Amino acid sequence: VSAERGGYPHFMLKEVHEQPKAVRNTLRGRVADDFSSVNLGEINLDDDFMKAVDRIHIVACGTSWHAGLVGKAVIEEYARVPVDVEIASEYRYRKPLFTPNTLVIVISQSGETADTLAALREVKKQGRRVLAITNVVGSSAAREADDVIITWAGPEIAVASTKAYTTQLAALYLLGIRLAHVRGTMDDARASEMIHALDDLPQVLEQVLDTAPQLESFAQRYVEATDTFFIGRGLDYSVALEGALKLKEISYIHAEAYAAGELKHGTLALITDGVPVIALATQPELYEKTVSNIVEVKARGAFVLGMTWVGNEDLEKTVDEVIYLPKTLPALAPILAVIPLQLLAYYAAVARGNDVDKPRNLAKSVTVE
Ligand code: G6P
Repeated sequence: VSAERGGYPHFMLKEVHEQPKAVRNTLRGRVADDFSSVNLGEINLDDDFMKAVDRIHIVACGTSWHAGLVGKAVIEEYARVPVDVEIASEYRYRKPLFTPNTLVIVISQSGETADTLAALREVKKQGRRVLAITNVVGSSAAREADDVIITWAGPEIAVASTKAYTTQLAALYLLGIRLAHVRGTMDDARASEMIHALDDLPQVLEQVLDTAPQLESFAQRYVEATDTFFIGRGLDYSVALEGALKLKEISYIHAEAYAAGELKHGTLALITDGVPVIALATQPELYEKTVSNIVEVKARGAFVLGMTWVGNEDLEKTVDEVIYLPKTLPALAPILAVIPLQLLAYYAAVARGNDVDKPRNLAKSVTVE
């Protein structure tokens, strides 16, 4: 255990535990003292442009792309602007269609990912406005974009991204609220409720970290698994994608994320006795529908680890084990729900004796195509 890892055996575990602080730093100075508004003074987007924006393209790779999926839901719900989320390596070779006031948002922890930068440059060449959400001040993305939101997660060393993702979500929530405010699509009471909940996140995230022993024990029992499935609906589906990616990246266990309602169109054929399924059920509006999908996988013999909000003991009737998340607004659940999934991937990788911080074949920053 080296000093630079702050007493943790791996950078990844250190970074997972730094998330409350990282999110606090991302929110710092950006939330008004009376919780009435969000201040993103560092971006130049003037109110007229924010009002006029008629389409947003979010462009990113890997974990940052998964953050973009949550961003789409948040921006569409609060600011009522249609959002497309695009994989940078796909977007750069298409001929994207722009509306008169399209805003392009690139998300990149490093600010140096080749495909994301190429997309940024192409879009700028076409005279479009680009906002970068990045963790690195002075990175290429930060320098070349018109506007920048820095995430302030601090250096992320482990290849598997953790605190960068949660701070990207925090930045996207802030942006969503700011846009909604300017556009008049969110009433004051709702905005203030959301800003309060954002401000509470650092302490809520501390509580989520207490789930670690439960995930460690689950990971040790499933260390021999060859296939796993992550299911959920809505925001839970976006988080499921990130959970599956984490598990693949460092434990090398095959993991697939599926929109729970889509299971019966194919993936259900792969569910057999003892297959681990991680089922996210953090969204009250979609809860009953998700439970009916969990019943379907249980009927095929799956071992189900469910995740829901504290107090919702109903889920125990359907699943084998439950992870409880502290209460928050449903829109903010992704930032909580991802943490047990990061811990699951971490402990599975450790149990398999893998090089957690430097998984085979992967790089921290993909600067070549
Ligand atoms: C690599 C990293 C991932 C990261 C992705 C995008 O694949 O291993 O963790 O999500 O690149 O990186 P970026 O720096 O652009 O967010």
